[in-house]
Amino acid sequence: MTFRARHLLGIEQLQPDEIRTLLDLADSYVDLNRRTIKRTDALAGMTQINMFFEASTRTQSSFEIAGKRLGADVMNMAVSQSSVKKGETLIDTALTLNAMHPDLLVVRHQNSGAVALLAEKVNCAVLNAGDGRHEHPTQALLDALTIRRRKGRLQRLTVAICGDIAHSRVARSNLLLLGKMENRIRLIGPPTLMPAGVGEFGCEIYDDMKAGLEGADVVMMLRLQKERMDGGFIPSEREYFYRYGLDAEKLAHAKPDAIVMHPGPMNRGVEIDGTLADDINRSVIQEQVEMGVAVRMAAMDLLARNLKAERGRAAAGVMV
Ligand code: NCD
Repeated sequence: MTFRARHLLGIEQLQPDEIRTLLDLADSYVDLNRRTIKRTDALAGMTQINMFFEASTRTQSSFEIAGKRLGADVMNMAVSQSSVKKGETLIDTALTLNAMHPDLLVVRHQNSGAVALLAEKVNCAVLNAGDGRHEHPTQALLDALTIRRRKGRLQRLTVAICGDIAHSRVARSNLLLLGKMENRIRLIGPPTLMPAGVGEFGCEIYDDMKAGLEGADVVMMLRLQKERMDGGFIPSEREYFYRYGLDAEKLAHAKPDAIVMHPGPMNRGVEIDGTLADDINRSVIQEQVEMGVAVRMAAMDLLARNLKAERGRAAAGVMV
């Protein structure tokens, strides 16, 4: 088992062997999650707090289910009803919760870098559930697990990431992970939705869907992140769908067995055709959600092991 990390802040800090360790463990949690009795005691007696400063359906619920299946006591902080609304800063909120001795803190925040800052102030393991447009590591890991199970490998694949790359933490974490595993990555989208400096990412860049999808093994669609846009990035949603929305006709340019992915939430008729999203022969969108629970169980299990070992060494008086 190789997993050295103390926190899960981003894919950037993980080595390929750590990614493999996590995915292997997640595979065993997929099996467990398909049984009637899903409980283990990997986190028994430990406390997990979820702090979501941004809206979430899949990520928050799957972190909660993951913690409960591992036997942790899980608390969801209701941010909209908390003292954050009275002006308390993120760090003060975190220090308050830290005083209650949580073991795992799961944080989503609208500012890039906020979760890493918080991790410096607390003495538990911190998991980044998405920080601004920076990283969303568990999303990239669940995408990787879905790809590995469907394609039988996680190397030498041609992966097309399409749409609003500029505002997407999902795209960033996936780029980092798929790059570390030696895949060929294509970014497809209008030039207005490409991040600055994209030429240095080592990917192929396309603004035409059909050309970019040619021969792709995996097609990953992204939502238009309107909440992060401060101007007119696209002419209209109708025009956007016509040029960049994934439908059967554009998908025909990818490999015949190419899989279609989307992290959710999906805007049908904007970035993806609704019928294609529901086509169980092509779309693995529901499978991504299933893998999400298993990957979050694996991540929390591995971090909890490291935390227990670290505390054990500290109690024995060993210098760390
Ligand atoms: C993504 C996110 O929040 O970054 N959603 C998710 O976690 N599955 C993508 C998005 O909001 O479009």
